[in-house]
Amino acid sequence: MAGGGMVAVGAEHLHAEAYGGRLTGYVIFVAILSACGGLLFGYDIGVTGGVTAMAGFQQKFFPDVYERTVLGISDTSPYCKYDNQVLQTFTSTMFLAGMFSSFFAGTMCRKLGRKATMFTSACLFILGAGLQAGAQNLAMLFVGRAFLGFGIGFANTVVPLYLSEVAPFNFRGGLNMLFQLFTTIGILIAGLVNYGVQDWWAGWRLSLGLAAAFALGLLVGSIVLPESPNSLIERGQVEKGRAVLERLRGTKDVEAEMEDILEATELASLVSLRQSYTMLLTKAYRPQLILSCLIPFFQQFTGINAIMFYVPVIFNSLGSGRRASLLNTIIINCINSASTMVAVLLVDKFGRRFFLLEAGVQMFITQTIVGVVLATQFGKYDDGKLPTGTTVGVLVVICVYIASSAWSWGPMGWLVPSEIHTLETRPAGMSIAVAANFLFSFVIGQSFLSMLCAMKWGVFLFFAGWVVVMTLFAYFLIPETKGVPVERVPIMFARHALWSRVMGPVSLEIIERDATRTISRQAAADQRAAANGDLKKAALCNHHENPTQSLCSPQVSVPWTDQHFPMASHQNILNPTRASLSPDVSRLARLG
Ligand code: BGC
Repeated sequence: MAGGGMVAVGAEHLHAEAYGGRLTGYVIFVAILSACGGLLFGYDIGVTGGVTAMAGFQQKFFPDVYERTVLGISDTSPYCKYDNQVLQTFTSTMFLAGMFSSFFAGTMCRKLGRKATMFTSACLFILGAGLQAGAQNLAMLFVGRAFLGFGIGFANTVVPLYLSEVAPFNFRGGLNMLFQLFTTIGILIAGLVNYGVQDWWAGWRLSLGLAAAFALGLLVGSIVLPESPNSLIERGQVEKGRAVLERLRGTKDVEAEMEDILEATELASLVSLRQSYTMLLTKAYRPQLILSCLIPFFQQFTGINAIMFYVPVIFNSLGSGRRASLLNTIIINCINSASTMVAVLLVDKFGRRFFLLEAGVQMFITQTIVGVVLATQFGKYDDGKLPTGTTVGVLVVICVYIASSAWSWGPMGWLVPSEIHTLETRPAGMSIAVAANFLFSFVIGQSFLSMLCAMKWGVFLFFAGWVVVMTLFAYFLIPETKGVPVERVPIMFARHALWSRVMGPVSLEIIERDATRTISRQAAADQRAAANGDLKKAALCNHHENPTQSLCSPQVSVPWTDQHFPMASHQNILNPTRASLSPDVSRLARLG
């Protein structure tokens, strides 16, 4: 998922087991409409590669590329046919603009609400798509692309947030991945559209303009959809928020969820974005800061967007005709969506690290094969074309590469950053992760074709090298976040062999505080048991040789806890009260 610098439910589902309601048709409708945001993101990622390979587009805006690729006038190396900084800027501008607007999106979501943010995003998209489709010169093309970027910065912040707020709590995790799935479907649709219009000289106008269709879906959605209950409550309209929640859940029995939203909203309001940034810069949160920057970096340096942005161009450079290049793109995009589905279905079973480590091996092998095949085969043919058999082989290997990327760094690049932040650093941490993702997407978009020209087949080995680095990094430094309740994140880092060194002495403080808190919670739980009249049980608990000691504080089985830091009770995990928040937030709460 993309995701903004916002918190859906800060103190996670406090009384989740008591939530009423079901997955209503209305929620499904709401989710589908707002998922148009994911489609838009994907469509705009996928559309440019096909468009830049279209003769009509090249002739109008990039005549030098047209001469090299269509007329074959110059004797440039096949690897350099598309090497043009301005052409790359066309692709990458969107991400620079997205990075810029993502910094404002969180504040807008909070102050004006989710609907207004979606509406703004849709308008920016429509404007951008219109300018691009009607572009008469490079300026119009670039301004249009920048508007799309502004729209994406907003959409990638608000849509995942909105989805997580309207969905019943047990569907929230899946929705994170659903946004990524819609993104890949958007990329696929872009490939299909490009394939469909390739024979039409002005087909690129339709390809670029069609982004407006999804934006229109988002626009209609932003008008007819309800404001999210959280946003209404956040802005003081509690009764309206309750009414929307009742409608979304299809029941009047929403008291438990209401209570949680109220508490979470109150807690979230205790931490301003500025405070969140200040905390993220302290040593105690160093792991979160580093991971928020490095995970998006690694996601982009798998080389995925070299393929997503430029795959038609790559195949065209290797000598495939336009039609074949676009067809290969569609095949690759189908694999991308199907493999993302694998992650959606299995990530909560196998965990995040499993996919990151497995994919590391798969990506390294496939990228090395592509590099070596090109190095040994390409130079052999005078006409600058790979034989069909070799091209098919390269396509198959790229598909295997795409599959691994799509079930690993693709979704995990969004999921893991969203799971490593506690309430106090989440707004800043997620803003940084979104902005870093756009920044590194910009870097790849802006440099890949030049790298291909300069490094030739070596560019695939370059990415293979980064895959080794990120896989080692994942092995040693990315903790498993599956099933870790948000309040346990600091202790997870403080007890991590390497991260604790990065954090310094503060890690020991966190461990001590956690131990003290655990003991006092345990005592409180025992007291409650006694006060509840469970005298027999209390008596048993106080008895030294009592063989049923564990009854005193029922342990909950959480995969990552160990015997040194047992949780006091189920309630304590699902119900982080103010006292159980980190001391920093409690301090803020007092200050606030
Ligand atoms: C990445 C995009 C990428 C897409 C590919 C997303 O998670 O952020 O940059 O193009 O996956 O499926």
